[in-house]
Amino acid sequence: MYRDVQRDLEPPGGIHPLLAGRFSPYKFDPSAAIDDHSLGLLLEAARWAPSAGNSQPWGFFASRPGERGHERVVRHLAPSSARWATDAGLLVVTLARRYVGDTQLLYSEFADYDLGQAVAHLTVQAQAMGLAAHQFRAFDLEGLTEELRPNPGWAIVSMIALGKAAGEPPASRDRRSIADLGSAPWSMSE
Ligand SMILES: Cc1cc2nc3c(=O)[nH]c(=O)nc-3n(C[C@H](O)[C@H](O)[C@H](O)COP(=O)(O)O)c2cc1C
Repeated sequence: MYRDVQRDLEPPGGIHPLLAGRFSPYKFDPSAAIDDHSLGLLLEAARWAPSAGNSQPWGFFASRPGERGHERVVRHLAPSSARWATDAGLLVVTLARRYVGDTQLLYSEFADYDLGQAVAHLTVQAQAMGLAAHQFRAFDLEGLTEELRPNPGWAIVSMIALGKAAGEPPASRDRRSIADLGSAPWSMSE
């Protein structure tokens, strides 16, 4: 499928520096710990995100190196993410509440959408605190679900590694053009 992609050295000026400066690092400083206060602020940022009907269908399992929860999560990382995520000062497992208990009744049709927005808020808060976030899906979803055993209706969706970035942003970044954002959903242009 044709996609109109631009390759930029960095995001163009004009957007907020917190958004322009964000990137998903492949290297974290293993000596940079995240203290309780910082962890609280990150979760606070997620907590204040908007959600459909204020349903707040999100949940988080946060753990730091040295904590027992961290070992329980790290053992389910894929080799590709284990290379960098284990050095991060914080690992967060994200969960969405999709169903009411063990029924097929939707708790919210926007559960995953709202979780994504809460995570976006968390990542911007992290950036404001001099921390970087790398969201990822490279882990054994079944194994981690078995390990953490979320309540019925809840599903693990993704993970986030957070900490001090140890590497530089990639030399160039690919993004679809603004024109493509408007035209891609339709097959014919007027
Ligand atoms: C839901 C989600 C899943 C992702 N899964 C992975 C992953 O498994 N491995 C990985 O290296 N990066 C993963 N990423 C990071 C993206 O590859 C990254 O955000 C994208 O390439 C844009 O780069 P940037 O965040 O540095 O701008 C994921 C991001 C999101 C939001």
